[in-house]
Amino acid sequence: MADAPRPGTGRHLAFMSPLSGERADRLAADLARRRPGTVLDLGCGWGELLLRILALAPGARGTGVDEHEHDVTRGRANAAERGLAERATFVHGPAKEHLSSADVVISVGAYHALGSITEALRELRALLHPGGRLLFAAEFWEQPPTAARLALMWPGMTADDCTDLAGLVDAAIAAGFRPLRIETATRGEWEEFESGLAADREEWLIGNPDHPEAAEIRAALDSQRSIWLRGHRDLMGFAYLTLG
Ligand SMILES: C[S@@+](CC[C@H](N)C(=O)[O-])C[C@H]1O[C@@H](n2cnc3c(N)ncnc32)[C@H](O)[C@@H]1O
Repeated sequence: MADAPRPGTGRHLAFMSPLSGERADRLAADLARRRPGTVLDLGCGWGELLLRILALAPGARGTGVDEHEHDVTRGRANAAERGLAERATFVHGPAKEHLSSADVVISVGAYHALGSITEALRELRALLHPGGRLLFAAEFWEQPPTAARLALMWPGMTADDCTDLAGLVDAAIAAGFRPLRIETATRGEWEEFESGLAADREEWLIGNPDHPEAAEIRAALDSQRSIWLRGHRDLMGFAYLTLG
């Protein structure tokens, strides 16, 4: 019997966020067009967006930082495969211990690595070279969440964990940025993300229904799916802010 896959490896995903390849390519092209010399991605996962920017900006060097070792290893392998190993450095560790300044800074789904949204935006602002760009992506409420819906999401989730989209952009402006592009993940991007996140273990479960770990994995997947479909679907948004 095959061992159960670890949760959340993202093996079936191109990004560890609700981000389509089309949006990623456009964002990467926009950021690369400014010919950055340095790109920093804090909480990079396996750094797919970072690598797409480096591929389009031949003069740029990039650093991705993530505390998840498996992701960093995947990022290094992808960089080597695409001939980007010389220009892409993947650092395994906490973002706060590996801060550096850059022309393009990326924080996608990872502001927690630097504290609250306000704290993260302030920190990221300080890292950005004059004239640089920050791509900041984070959750927001599409509508105010009711207590009943919050109770169906992740344990401990409160309405204060996010603002609305206007509040998120206001927070960026308060940190010293101007918003150049404000865009939000589509339902299709969420569906790709949530389905892809579960795909590893769902496929394993079909092939290993009697495995000693099957009941535990099935319960975890059912809970994860319920949090999405009963909890945050169409209520929690994900914004991509290009900030200057
Ligand atoms: C939602 S994932 C997004 C990954 C990537 N930005 C992407 O969009 O594909 C958040 C990432 O932040 C990383 N992370 C969380 N806290 C961190 C910290 N304190 N330092 C470094 N990385 C952290 C996680 O390991 C995870 O890979």
